[in-house]
Amino acid sequence: MLGKIAGMWWSRKTADQPDADKLIKSLDHGRLPKHVAIIMDGNGRWAGKRRLPRAFGHRAGVESLREIVKVCTELKIGVLTVYAFSTENWKRPQDEVDALMKLLVEYVNKELDELCAKGVRVNPVGRLEDLPANALAALEVAREKSRDNSCLVLNIGLNYGGRTEIVDAVQAIAVKVKAGEISAEDINEKLINDNLYTAGLPDPDLLIRPAGDFRLSNFLLWQLAYTEFWLTPVLWPDFGRVHFLQALLDFQQRERRFGGLKDS
Ligand code: IPE
Ligand code: IPE
Ligand code: MG
Repeated sequence: MLGKIAGMWWSRKTADQPDADKLIKSLDHGRLPKHVAIIMDGNGRWAGKRRLPRAFGHRAGVESLREIVKVCTELKIGVLTVYAFSTENWKRPQDEVDALMKLLVEYVNKELDELCAKGVRVNPVGRLEDLPANALAALEVAREKSRDNSCLVLNIGLNYGGRTEIVDAVQAIAVKVKAGEISAEDINEKLINDNLYTAGLPDPDLLIRPAGDFRLSNFLLWQLAYTEFWLTPVLWPDFGRVHFLQALLDFQQRERRFGGLKDS
């Protein structure tokens, strides 16, 4: 019954479909971002507004993820990084953490074939070793099975923290210095980049944060140095293709200077 009610709300998203085609036509397909990052926020508020348990919000949020992954593969955006569970989210009640982990395993198991069919490489990022064993196992299967796919890299931030990512990189570099493989003078931005979870990938061009908060919440602290932000009050479970396309269109109006002057 509750699932049915939630389903009725989800179906509202398809009503704006004709707009999406119009928006796609107005996009400059030669100037799409190569990497989009999303803080998938607002699931709990979405559920609260409907007097549903928070887990229903997380489940509805998975539908949004499915849709946005699909759009990214259609538009050939090379990298999508989504924030699914932060190093700080363990502070939540145990039943919510359990529901999130269960949902993660369910998503990976249920979607893997479809993701592979769309050419998606699943790349979980974060301190994965602290996740429950069954979640870790499901993620490793997904990583392995999708490793040669090249349409879209889907980085999923799980037990991800921007600060722990930097700590992990610094430790890995310190080990190499101690072993005499490199010297302290060899440490530069490229070396730090190469030791982040996102090694080898371009920095995000566009960061989307739904649900109305104006903060990073420990997401991609290093990589977002020159990223364009797009914030919206729309809650993540209500976020669909149209919102994503609006963000892309807005991004294409921005003038990126990277500290230089216009057109430099
Ligand atoms: C984002 O939604 C999902 C996770 C952080 C796991 P929230 O659960 O943070 O939803 P709000 O912010 O409470 O609405
Ligand atoms: C950020 O959202 C983490 C994820 C979306 C996974 P939070 O809901 O945890 O962020 P805060 O606590 O509002 O900053
Ligand atoms: Mg939140």
